[in-house]
Amino acid sequence: MTIEELIKDISKAELHLHIEGTLEPELMFEIAARNGIELRFTSVDELRAAYEFDDLQSFLDIYYEGAACLLHEQDFYDLTMAYLRRVAADNVVHVEIFFDPQTHTDRGIAFETALDGIWRALADGRRDLGITSRLIMCFLRHLSAESAMTTLEQALPHRDRILGVGLDSSEVGNPPSKFREVFDRAREAGFVPMAHAGEEGPPEYIYEALDLLGAARIDHGVRCEEDPDLVRRLREEQVLLTVCPLSNVKLRVFDTMADHNIKRLLDAGVCVTVNSDDPAYFGGYMNDNFLATARGLDLSQDDVVQLVRYGFTASFLDDAETEAYLRRVDDFVDA
Ligand code: ADE
Ligand code: ZN
Repeated sequence: MTIEELIKDISKAELHLHIEGTLEPELMFEIAARNGIELRFTSVDELRAAYEFDDLQSFLDIYYEGAACLLHEQDFYDLTMAYLRRVAADNVVHVEIFFDPQTHTDRGIAFETALDGIWRALADGRRDLGITSRLIMCFLRHLSAESAMTTLEQALPHRDRILGVGLDSSEVGNPPSKFREVFDRAREAGFVPMAHAGEEGPPEYIYEALDLLGAARIDHGVRCEEDPDLVRRLREEQVLLTVCPLSNVKLRVFDTMADHNIKRLLDAGVCVTVNSDDPAYFGGYMNDNFLATARGLDLSQDDVVQLVRYGFTASFLDDAETEAYLRRVDDFVDA
């Protein structure tokens, strides 16, 4: 079997995915049209041509602009369903997805409009595509801690549908410590804490996410490599880093895929997974990320299988579900 066939056919879990980042230009135009919203771009090609980023902020500006066409529950449903159908074709069988409530509530959209639409699609995805899922809400770190606290309060009645809380958006200058009280409350309420850290921010932010927020995993985390003590700790505590290779290259965290550190981290015994982050903007879904990583870093088939296995062992699935998926992976490898 070639590595391309292995990547395509093995069952995979995606653990770092912003649902707003799956809004493809075609669907954006369709939803904007039916909602009577005029986009600043006149065509899909013109919009795609604007996806040239030189850092996280240059991406976020256009990502928030795109998300502004989402108004109705059906819009969130269609967005989520399109993502699930797309990754079903990649043999993704489990997803843990983020949504950004404040991106919508700040525009006057009810928290429940976004939540209900996403949730209905996840339920249909489970039934029709066999994809299991968990939903995580992220606080926008460029907004205030008060705004995050308000968002947490809005989420409290929906604890049964929202597994955890994360932290995303503009990292540098918005350290995890800014959200300490919000995460204290969130943990008390039973939400699993996690945070984007060490994407553009320094290793210090990863320490803060672990020690001040109690993060159960770190999203991105690739800048940990600048601090050998931190890498040792991540390995010893088996803290998952949800790495997003194509995103990192697009946003210039690494100049090229050949410079990416996911293989070095894997070899050092750190628990890392491959994910797509915002596939509509970064040029690829799960298999594209695996393929680009395998080619850029000359991954072996064993490397790919290990990355895939971590996707299940480090997921928030319960033990029986994890075991069942691992058995599926092992049976596939044995065959
Ligand atoms: N929101 C969507 N994608 C993000 C990323 N890669 N980093 C921070 N915030 C995000
Ligand atoms: Zn992300």
